[in-house]
Amino acid sequence: MLSGKVPLSVNLCRKISTSSRNMGKLDGKVAVVTASTDGIGFAIAKRLLEDGAKVVISSRKEANVQKALNELKKHNLNAHGIKCHVGNKEDRQKLFDETIKQYGKLNILVSNAATNPAVGGVLDCDESVWDKIFDTNVKASFMLAKEALPFLRKSNSTPEDKHSNSIVFVSSIAGYDAFELLGAYSVSKTALIGLSRAAAKDLAPEGIRVNCLAPGIIKTNFSKALYESESANEAALSKIPMNRLGTPDEMAGVVSFLVSKDAGYISGESIVASGGMTARI
Ligand SMILES: NC(=O)c1ccc[n+]([C@@H]2O[C@H](COP(=O)([O-])OP(=O)(O)OC[C@H]3O[C@@H](n4cnc5c(N)ncnc54)[C@H](OP(=O)(O)O)[C@@H]3O)[C@@H](O)[C@H]2O)c1
Repeated sequence: MLSGKVPLSVNLCRKISTSSRNMGKLDGKVAVVTASTDGIGFAIAKRLLEDGAKVVISSRKEANVQKALNELKKHNLNAHGIKCHVGNKEDRQKLFDETIKQYGKLNILVSNAATNPAVGGVLDCDESVWDKIFDTNVKASFMLAKEALPFLRKSNSTPEDKHSNSIVFVSSIAGYDAFELLGAYSVSKTALIGLSRAAAKDLAPEGIRVNCLAPGIIKTNFSKALYESESANEAALSKIPMNRLGTPDEMAGVVSFLVSKDAGYISGESIVASGGMTARI
């Protein structure tokens, strides 16, 4: 002490208290997060791992899966990864089979994939574009939930740990109030809010919760067009009371809460995380 050195035990305590702030919140849980090699999905997977869950990450491209696994390893986080295009039935089946093979159960599904192949008003949308948006954003989410359900049921909570299995759909604030030029995409995100509310009612008696995350404008590749140019960035910021875009980590924190015991009495809900952009009364 006299030499100015901090005793080893104090250093150790400091290290433990900072690194394990949320550690263990999801100990013993197994999670599948789709579209999780980049952006919001990657941040969610990373956060669930940090909170103690076993996580299976996936996306369409094998190389991206490997890259994401390597990135997680740099943070001393070990996930399992598999290629899965959410629109492909075989891929989805392999995703769940592999999860059960690796970890023996499934407690959490985060359905995060979405596409938006064209911009425009809702009724300007071509039929093929509408189909593509609804196939990926809504039908694949519905199918993932349906296919995950037998595993969620089997891995259901003990009486002491009621309502701990859950599904989270990643919707959008645009699902409440359609974004200009993102008409069909916005409607697909509204459908996810409806899907989660309907499924939440059905599954509540079985102890499975269903909720939505509704992000505002988050800085990822997906939203590049909304901040890339100075004019687009200014227009976006003018709509956000906090005057900044959100981060994927901020979205991950909300999902970590929704799938945790702390949210054990929350189902059929949608949490808007938008820097103060209003979505409803
Ligand atoms: N960013 C925002 O401002 C914002 C706002 C509201 C809601 N959201 C929602 O948040 C979710 C994630 O968006 P993001 O901004 O994080 O996107 P992102 O940064 O572009 O990341 C997209 C991820 O999804 C994967 N992916 C894309 N299509 C897929 C598919 N069909 N099947 C499986 N994986 C797929 C990509 O990897 P591969 O290329 O390897 O497939 C990548 O890992 C979406 O549902 C989006 O609608 C985003």
